[in-house]
Amino acid sequence: MDAFLIHGGKRLKGATQVSGSKNASLPLMAAALLADGPVVLHDVPHLSDIQNMARLLRELGCEVEHDENGTMRLEVVDEGNSHARYDVVRTMRASVCVLGPLLGKRGNVLFSMPGGCAIGDRPIDLHLRGMAGLGADVELEENGNIHTKAKRLRGSKMFLGGPFGSTVLGTINVMCAAALAEGTTVIEQAACEPEVADVADLLIKMGAHISGAGTPRMTIDGVKSLSGTEHRVIADRIEAGTLIMATAITNGDVKIENCPIDALAAAMDRLAAIGVSVDTVNGANPMRATVSVSSARRLEPVMVTTQPHPGFPTDLQAQLMALVTLADGNSIITEKIFPERFLHVAELSRMGAKLYRQGPTVMVSGVKRLIGAPVMASDLRASAGLVMAGLAAKGATKVNRVYHLDRGYEQLELKLQKLGADIERVSE
Ligand code: EPU
Repeated sequence: MDAFLIHGGKRLKGATQVSGSKNASLPLMAAALLADGPVVLHDVPHLSDIQNMARLLRELGCEVEHDENGTMRLEVVDEGNSHARYDVVRTMRASVCVLGPLLGKRGNVLFSMPGGCAIGDRPIDLHLRGMAGLGADVELEENGNIHTKAKRLRGSKMFLGGPFGSTVLGTINVMCAAALAEGTTVIEQAACEPEVADVADLLIKMGAHISGAGTPRMTIDGVKSLSGTEHRVIADRIEAGTLIMATAITNGDVKIENCPIDALAAAMDRLAAIGVSVDTVNGANPMRATVSVSSARRLEPVMVTTQPHPGFPTDLQAQLMALVTLADGNSIITEKIFPERFLHVAELSRMGAKLYRQGPTVMVSGVKRLIGAPVMASDLRASAGLVMAGLAAKGATKVNRVYHLDRGYEQLELKLQKLGADIERVSE
């Protein structure tokens, strides 16, 4: 297994670029199952999660080619197999996003129920409620498989909110299935994340009738068929936020291109309060802006609560926590989306951070410096937080099990090296 060896204390400087969004690419790829012709996606990042999704789609009869420039061509050639097997689903929870497209197009899906994962239970009840709302039969069968089938899906009005708010992939699944249903579907408390709007953009190019994507109320008028098309994936807002915070924790000065600043309002608000300045150099397209990041020597403490978009994203919580370990005072971070998503807390403590957790809330009492240590995390974003801490810490930090990072950050160590970080990939 690979690890990152980091010698901290180098200020990040120079210019870098944000890759295409992982969390948009995965459901965009799955949406290709709906099309009657080839779908071409540009800016699909090279990540292990993307490879896993490609493997699943190939099993489902879709040809997938991904070139080194990030262009991916997907074309369904055989609709014979609609079983998403446990072996694939258990390696990647986002496999769930084939559910809606398969049901919409083929009317029949056997989907292995995903188990819990490192960041929490992650049920799929809202996805299934949505499918049932469109008239599908949903049954749990042997071997943990859920059989979802419908002769004809019918549009309906549904509420998709749960105890933790809206669901991103649940909303996308219902939108995909409803795109080919008979009649009109209205989703109330739809997720407003930019990834939902990006998938809607693709479906609209394929011929779907969708309005309100990116707002809590979406309307989908079903059509008879969808065609192939071409689409560029939005930039990754979480990678952008991570690069901004990595710059800040090293008191660096970095220009970041292809930055979806428009999708980062809550993070920008908190970063401004901490004392990080993010200036837009070129904002002609605010989803692909160029920004310049620098930070004050003295970081201020903040209160942060994660929320569905446009609130502060759970996927930046670990990175923000790493940043405020060095703030001058006490910060309070509350996790409202995945209340158990704190795998980084014990590891950051090993590096000298002062963290006190009670349930979904962590008080971070800022320290003057972090000290390098061997650390490990079993979640993608927690690992990113640990890399950031390593960049700022005194001495050497070894972040073990970086296969978690490889799931969601394209060539992170190379991007950081180019910015002057002393980081290398080594064998554990
Ligand atoms: N939830 C339910 N029932 C459901 C679905 C969700 O109770 O049927 C709950 C979840 O347990 C959670 C909340 O609703 O408490 C929100 O979950 P959501 O469904 O929105 O998460 P997701 O769609 O499965 C995506 C991202 C995650 C990101 C979340 C929240 C992808 C592939 N994954 O997951 O990204 O944390 O939205 O923004 O898009 C990551 O990239 O590291 C990552 C985990």
